[in-house]
Amino acid sequence: MPLGFAHHHLLGIRQLSRQDIERIFEQAEHFLPYCRSAMYRLPDLRGRTVVLAFFEPSTRTRVSFELAARRLSADVVSFQAAGSSLAKGESLLDTLETLESMGVDAVVVRHRDSGVVWFLQRFLRCSIINAGDGQHEHPTQALLDGFTLWKRFGSLEGLRVCIIGDILHSRVARSNIELLSRFGAEVGICGPGTLIPQQAEQSWKVRRFFVLEDALQWAQAVIVLRLQRERMESGLIPSLQEYHRFYGLTRERLARAPHLCLLHPGPTNYGVELTREVAASPQSLIRQQVHYGVAIRMAVLKLVVGDRIAR
Ligand code: CP
Repeated sequence: MPLGFAHHHLLGIRQLSRQDIERIFEQAEHFLPYCRSAMYRLPDLRGRTVVLAFFEPSTRTRVSFELAARRLSADVVSFQAAGSSLAKGESLLDTLETLESMGVDAVVVRHRDSGVVWFLQRFLRCSIINAGDGQHEHPTQALLDGFTLWKRFGSLEGLRVCIIGDILHSRVARSNIELLSRFGAEVGICGPGTLIPQQAEQSWKVRRFFVLEDALQWAQAVIVLRLQRERMESGLIPSLQEYHRFYGLTRERLARAPHLCLLHPGPTNYGVELTREVAASPQSLIRQQVHYGVAIRMAVLKLVVGDRIAR
């Protein structure tokens, strides 16, 4: 494995080359035996401090980053926005500059504003890792999704993957389209017209499906997205029942596509984009995704923070 990693931040998939992503996958593969148990603490981040700064709710990303950092022997601080001086009017940048002055090596940021990590990296010397910025990117989710597919199929080249649902609000969709296209996968999208960005087919070079059954027959894997009702200002769908009728993944629909495996980034709205039975079926890789998420975040922290030469 070559020394050094070219990136001091992880802002988005767009900044990573195919070789960078392969490097992260190889490192994650190496960490897989260590990510389940606290019995083994690897020394890669010993003496480093990682701050988790989540300004939007999260379970999987926040906890897996914390586990990943601890498995690599880092000190981890979870910054709580509630009760901080943000309530007294301190800005986000002042807050993170204050934390940096305390000797922080990396900040993992989730924020509702698209592009916020780009703004922060202009002013902070520590590493910035994007844990989801608005509707823009969620790079570690795409890395763990790509890794899950890579482990399952052995290669992403030519793989037919369809992303289903609320593409409009989805940073997961944007990061996954970037990553999958980088590896020569064929990417499809399927959802109601109100939840697909205009010009999506042309600007992303993806195949558009209007009927879910057609997408399920075409794809080898589907990434089912959560309907992000918290980001919808007006009624973009007539009702949840109608959405489920046309775009919900049910046992009956899955039975007609026995070749298919499915992913979902979580959290899931059961009875809307899929049913509980579908999530628990042998065709579901959802639990695998969560498991691999720790190894992927260990790999990102090691390469971006642990291997960083002090500036
Ligand atoms: N997939 C994902 O980002 O989940 P959380 O919001 O629970 O972190």
